[in-house]
Amino acid sequence: MQIAIDGPASSGKSTVAKIVATQLGFVYVDTGAMYRATTVLANRLGLDYGDEAGLMAKLVDAQIEFQPDQAGQKVFLNGEDVTLTIRTPEITNNVSQVAALAAVRTEMVKRQRQIADQGQVVMDGRDIGTTVLPDAAVKIFMVASAKERAQRRYAENITKGIDTPLATLQAEIELRDQKDSTRAVSPLRKAADAVEIDTTKLTIEQVVAEILAITKQKMPN
Ligand code: DC
Repeated sequence: MQIAIDGPASSGKSTVAKIVATQLGFVYVDTGAMYRATTVLANRLGLDYGDEAGLMAKLVDAQIEFQPDQAGQKVFLNGEDVTLTIRTPEITNNVSQVAALAAVRTEMVKRQRQIADQGQVVMDGRDIGTTVLPDAAVKIFMVASAKERAQRRYAENITKGIDTPLATLQAEIELRDQKDSTRAVSPLRKAADAVEIDTTKLTIEQVVAEILAITKQKMPN
């Protein structure tokens, strides 16, 4: 069984997807982390983030792997732990450009389908329900206001000792939304058969419960 969870930046997808996967005993796949690891690769190679040919020459042989961890999941690029690096501002502010490269998307979609073929997955991203897993049994599209998403990111940052102003965070989120929704290849879009959940006024537990209820209805008896 496949569960696809899509939505804009900081809509709470990964938090919810991780819990849903744990409760069901499914594998959790954070596809955003794969685009972020690819962005780290471009950075390490000293490439312009729009250099598709230069990046593809190395990406085809690059290993991007996940390893379960107490805190969630670790991400490895060619054997190196890049779990923290992929969340740095340099990578966060440039990942949309890398994720807009058509050849990069083709390569990522291929890898994501290979992972999904191995078993039961909860996969989160932007194009899972529309492109990566169009036959997923459950498709969720999570949304929340930009203000609420900025506030959540702000609270999360404070626990990590990062003190970016709320207004800056909201502006960054709106810019990423705009880039992700208007790119030519696989833009962020709700699949026709996805269930939209507006999480602005919901707790994490409420969203998880709703997704589990939708999933149970689809499970074979
Ligand atoms: O979910 P996230 O913030 O970690 O995603 C990082 C970037 O990757 C985001 O700007 C959009 C892009 N992305 C994408 O284009 N397709 C996906 N399936 C997942 C993420």
